[in-house]
Amino acid sequence: METLLNTPPVLMNPPTVQLDQVEALLASQVDGNRSPLDAALAQLISAGGKRIRPRLALLTGGLLAADPAPLLHLAAAIEMLHTATLIHDDFVDGASLRRGVETLNAHQSAAASVLVGDFAFTRAARLVLATGSLSAVDMFTEAMATIVNGELVQITRPRGIANREEYFDWIGAKTAALFELSTGAPALLSRVDAEAASSARRFGYAIGVAFQIMDDVLDFTSDAAHLGKPSGQDLRQGILTLPALIYLEAHPDDPSLSRLINRQRLPEAELAQLVDSIRQSGSIEQAIEVAQGYVREGLDALNQLPDGPEHPLLEKITRSVVDRDE
Ligand code: IPE
Ligand code: IPE
Ligand code: MG
Ligand code: MG
Repeated sequence: METLLNTPPVLMNPPTVQLDQVEALLASQVDGNRSPLDAALAQLISAGGKRIRPRLALLTGGLLAADPAPLLHLAAAIEMLHTATLIHDDFVDGASLRRGVETLNAHQSAAASVLVGDFAFTRAARLVLATGSLSAVDMFTEAMATIVNGELVQITRPRGIANREEYFDWIGAKTAALFELSTGAPALLSRVDAEAASSARRFGYAIGVAFQIMDDVLDFTSDAAHLGKPSGQDLRQGILTLPALIYLEAHPDDPSLSRLINRQRLPEAELAQLVDSIRQSGSIEQAIEVAQGYVREGLDALNQLPDGPEHPLLEKITRSVVDRDE
């Protein structure tokens, strides 16, 4: 099937050989012929994606002199875990398009999305086991629990997210935890001391927060052709992200936002009006400034890590998080 995102993005400079090896490892987890589950997962993997998490894992691992073979398995495990969470996330969000391809939940039963997601989790588990590092497996399962819990909290709370504190807790769990794993777990495959290992985790966490803020900004500012997924979906689903929350701080009595927080649906015209007001209010620019603050925090943590040829590449990826349009 034609996909919109087949070309590798220019935004992140890859260690090409290793990335190719990670792609091969990912592909080897599914043969695409065995069962419909396999075929569905193979399609999502080959549809591309930015691969930012395995890039971060490979480069951070390189910088920390991590054991090379386990590092490849770790990077592949993290991308597979990400893929599994996307399948379940699209089901939870009722999303129709991912990486330019129709989502499973758009054309299959709910059960199929849940099962293919589960299948992807098992492939991720197998890959992380292949690192041979029990501490990496431990960090991996902890991150997985944090992500799932973050999503659960959001869908089970009676009221929607209504302030920054709740928002940062939520994105820290659902997104930054996986970035923290991407840069933190490579330290477990190396001989660095506890201080460097903790800087590596802080580095990824900060990038992850900036990354999710920008994802939420792009939901307001971009379109499906760039994103490979529909935009304008968060408010439609009743989810207030940072731009909406900043707007709410200035307009605490906004009736449309109050209704969304109380889990009521809005008519399309009212939604469109609200999106327009938020776009014109300067809240989006302020949200980007907050993301830039996290990028600086990430760069600070990166500077605590040893020097090496990976440094400028990691710096570039970190900065690119706030410049991206996909
Ligand atoms: C999407 O992640 C989920 C978020 C955390 C916002 P990516 O934007 O990295 O998705 P792909 O892998 O490039 O498709
Ligand atoms: C991503 O959040 C969270 C995950 C754990 C996958 P979003 O719901 O904003 O991600 P997109 O916009 O669907 O990619
Ligand atoms: Mg989603
Ligand atoms: Mg999003």
